[in-house]
Amino acid sequence: MRVYDLILKKRSGGELTGEEINFLVKGYTGGTIPDYQMAALAMAIFFRGMTDRETLDLTLAMAQSGDTISLRDIPGAKVDKHSTGGVGDKTTLVLVPLVAAAGVPVAKMSGRSLGHTGGTLDKLESIPGFRTSLSIAEMIRAVQQVGLAVAGQTANLVPADKKLYALRDVTATVDSLPLIAASIMSKKIAAGADAIVLDVKTGDGAFMKKLEDSFALAEAMVKIGSGAGRETVAVITNMDQPLGRAVGNALEVQEAIEALQGKGPADLEELCLCLGAWMLRLAGKAPGLQEGREKLKRLLESGAALEKFRELIISQHGDGAVIDNPALLPQAAAVLPVRAEAGGCVHRLKAEAIGRAALALGAGRERKEDAIDPAVGVAICKKVGDRVAPGDELARLHLNCAPGDPPAQQARRLVMEAYEIKPEPAVEPPLIFGYVDRSGRHYLD
Ligand code: URA
Repeated sequence: MRVYDLILKKRSGGELTGEEINFLVKGYTGGTIPDYQMAALAMAIFFRGMTDRETLDLTLAMAQSGDTISLRDIPGAKVDKHSTGGVGDKTTLVLVPLVAAAGVPVAKMSGRSLGHTGGTLDKLESIPGFRTSLSIAEMIRAVQQVGLAVAGQTANLVPADKKLYALRDVTATVDSLPLIAASIMSKKIAAGADAIVLDVKTGDGAFMKKLEDSFALAEAMVKIGSGAGRETVAVITNMDQPLGRAVGNALEVQEAIEALQGKGPADLEELCLCLGAWMLRLAGKAPGLQEGREKLKRLLESGAALEKFRELIISQHGDGAVIDNPALLPQAAAVLPVRAEAGGCVHRLKAEAIGRAALALGAGRERKEDAIDPAVGVAICKKVGDRVAPGDELARLHLNCAPGDPPAQQARRLVMEAYEIKPEPAVEPPLIFGYVDRSGRHYLD
């Protein structure tokens, strides 16, 4: 087999066989196929696409390129959850303890923040002492003992994706639907859960800005999951404006604690109940979505979900006292209000600009090796549909620099740009657009 012939075949619109795809993934991971040939292939895939069968074969070859995790020693059906990433998306912090409290064991591998989107590991590490670098054995032991664990991806999980993603990043081939679907699903399949719930974000702050593209990505991932024998459901959710009100690591942990006390923002709670109900259903812990929701709501009200979060923190060496006293989380030196210049109603609150404002303050990283500041970020006071008077606080910047310094000024400018305020009333946008399961697409009105 010659790599040249396979690039030519894909460039001409041909369909690669499973054997050819295995050869390419093995050769690239093992270093016998150079970056320039893989880059040419990625570009050919970008323009020609892949059939469902090719995408599944690519995903399975990537999933098997390194370690795979067996969760066999954890009793019960294991359900994983993945979000395609957004701004203020602290869903995992709420959802994992919530479903664990309902008896669904969760061994979750999470990522770090990059660009304008946040990462669960950075948020959890803002809790003093919290350790996310667990070995696979430590993670399984933690789930056996307390029912949940959240850890960073081990070094040798899906090495093919690490290499290919870095290559795509510098060759303008990230936004290829089959390559995104294979990248995400290879990691989920290697992580060993029996079923997968995907939160596919759509809108300004998301990877996929258009609803139709988000449904198409969801559909591709659900087909891969089913083809790999893992029941998969994808919920399409709004990322036009940030989720909740907190954007920044410690600020988001504090908001997650409030949500677990049943006092969080309505959109965050609604999303957690929706995704959680699917997780319970796929785990066989609720006969239907409505029963699942009701069960989860009771666990929020009783405090059981909050106690699970405390158990997670303590099990991973963090200070569980933050649950009762969030002031123990890192605090910024100053808080700077950003005020409305004119009155009206908020029509848009662009998620990406808010994510970039938090990034400017130091809450995220431009490059993988950058350090982050856990205390800083943006607290949003007004969201889409809210009325504002001139001089009202739109948001508060949590800073560790002087208000006149360039990061604070840049963040202030980005927050001002994020808001579109008009005199006429605005309708609150939908949070959930629909879902995709084995039977296809379902649009919600
Ligand atoms: N997230 C991933 O893990 N992979 C992609 O290709 C895109 C988003």
